[in-house]
Amino acid sequence: MPVLEVRNLEKHFGDTRVLNDIGFSLDKGQALSIIGASGSGKTTLLRCLNFLERPDGGSIAVNGETLFDAADPAALNESEIRKKRLHFGLVFQNFNLFPQYTALENVTLARELLAKKSGGESKEAIREAGKELLAQMGLADRAAHYPHQLSGGQQQRVAIARALALHPDILCFDEPTSALDPELTGEVLRVIRNLAEKKTTMIIVTHEMAFARDVADRVIFMDGGLIVEQGDPREVIDNPKEERTRRFLANYARN
Ligand SMILES: Nc1ncnc2c1ncn2[C@@H]1O[C@H](COP(=O)(O)OP(=O)(O)OP(=O)(O)O)[C@@H](O)[C@H]1O
Ligand SMILES: [Mg+2]
Repeated sequence: MPVLEVRNLEKHFGDTRVLNDIGFSLDKGQALSIIGASGSGKTTLLRCLNFLERPDGGSIAVNGETLFDAADPAALNESEIRKKRLHFGLVFQNFNLFPQYTALENVTLARELLAKKSGGESKEAIREAGKELLAQMGLADRAAHYPHQLSGGQQQRVAIARALALHPDILCFDEPTSALDPELTGEVLRVIRNLAEKKTTMIIVTHEMAFARDVADRVIFMDGGLIVEQGDPREVIDNPKEERTRRFLANYARN
């Protein structure tokens, strides 16, 4: 059974169709890259998966559990949405750390709130787990730093640790390196590559074609709200079948 199964997903903003019949699945331990021109609907797709937008059609299931089905649009209250959202971790382009909290607090905050509600783990256990995650990101010595005291690459690595802290089924990245210069891009891509080697189930929206090809198990090329082509990255990126994919990739230098 796939971890994620998306079927016929639709999203409109007014008269604009932003997602059109989007369907794909993702198996446990796989990394999926989504590529496509600006405005093709990549961010909207991630936002729909994370319940930041409500789709207008189709369905989303995680581990066989239907999270959303437009054919059966039960009214969801906020606490149900929050629960469904926990299946996904989301890492944004601009890090979006809480500026008033340290790196460690950014990582532990959501888990502490959850534990408070459900009477789960101790604060100490959560802090230890948070430190461990920061160490995995190469940030053991930055736990007490505030976001403004960290480089962009370090902030993004804190954001990745924060997303991992809640043990999501699927970790989603929306252009995680596009706000970073090349050196810092490298350090964040290395972390994502490590996660892929550890078989973390991930969706990565990226403009880094070489990275998409080397790290992802599958790639989706979107254009105008449609999936134009999907499959093995070496086929889609090195040997695209569709003219639109070829035109898009021609804008990227081969490496
Ligand atoms: N809240 C909104 N209201 C109206 N239109 C929107 C909204 N959000 C996105 N859109 C439109 O939906 C389309 C897809 O946008 P989206 O941000 O998903 O593209 P993208 O593929 O992520 O682009 P980029 O590579 O620039 O990040 C665009 O035409 C955009 O203008
Ligand atoms: Mg986007």
